[in-house]
Amino acid sequence: MHRVVDLKVLYFGTPVVLISTRNPDGTANLAPMSSAWWLGDQCMLGMNTASRTTQNLVRERECVLNLPSSVMAAAVDRLALLSGSPEMTPHKIEKGYRYEPDKFTAAGLSPLPAELVAAPRVAECPIQLECEVLSCEPFGIDTGCLAHTVRVLRAHVAEELIIPGTAHVDPVGWDPLIMKFCEFFGDGTQLRPSRLASAWRIPATSR
Ligand SMILES: Cc1cc2nc3c(=O)[nH]c(=O)nc-3n(C[C@H](O)[C@H](O)[C@H](O)COP(=O)(O)O)c2cc1C
Repeated sequence: MHRVVDLKVLYFGTPVVLISTRNPDGTANLAPMSSAWWLGDQCMLGMNTASRTTQNLVRERECVLNLPSSVMAAAVDRLALLSGSPEMTPHKIEKGYRYEPDKFTAAGLSPLPAELVAAPRVAECPIQLECEVLSCEPFGIDTGCLAHTVRVLRAHVAEELIIPGTAHVDPVGWDPLIMKFCEFFGDGTQLRPSRLASAWRIPATSR
């Protein structure tokens, strides 16, 4: 039996991304987001137009997508109600957001220079993807968001997550932080063999 529900939130479960961008004065901004989806070496990021991140993406045309593991939930949560933009929308003020120019210190995370882009990587994130911005287009109707399409230029992966002798991430070792209906989840349990992984000849886990 199903009921018709006027769902207030449709975020059914997506990996969290910590997106780092460069501010106009050359400092770094860092923001959690989870409206991200991937095709090949490209990714679509749904970000609010009022966010500092959107302004930086449109101007700088580059970013780093840092993928936090589930153990980083507390650090991500410390960023949740912060904005790198001094001009806060009434909606954000009402929700309790505040301006924070130094997000790395506020989160307790460490910046690491990237190799191809100006924005820093997040040292604590096991996967860091340096990206160029391909396009920034309005998204949907009255969403107040842009769809930023980015392409991964260089991927940095923690040694212990790489299946030895391959260029693949071990999916058992990698435990992404998931935002599910706005709550944080993480679970390293593999549920069943994946036919897609077989078809793509993804190597077996080493664990
Ligand atoms: C787990 C999590 C996921 C989020 N996902 C998104 C998202 O996908 N898109 C978005 O625009 N904001 C998202 N937000 C809200 C932004 O992080 C928030 O607007 C923040 O103030 C942006 O920072 P900035 O203004 O410095 O760019 C998310 C926040 C959290 C905590």
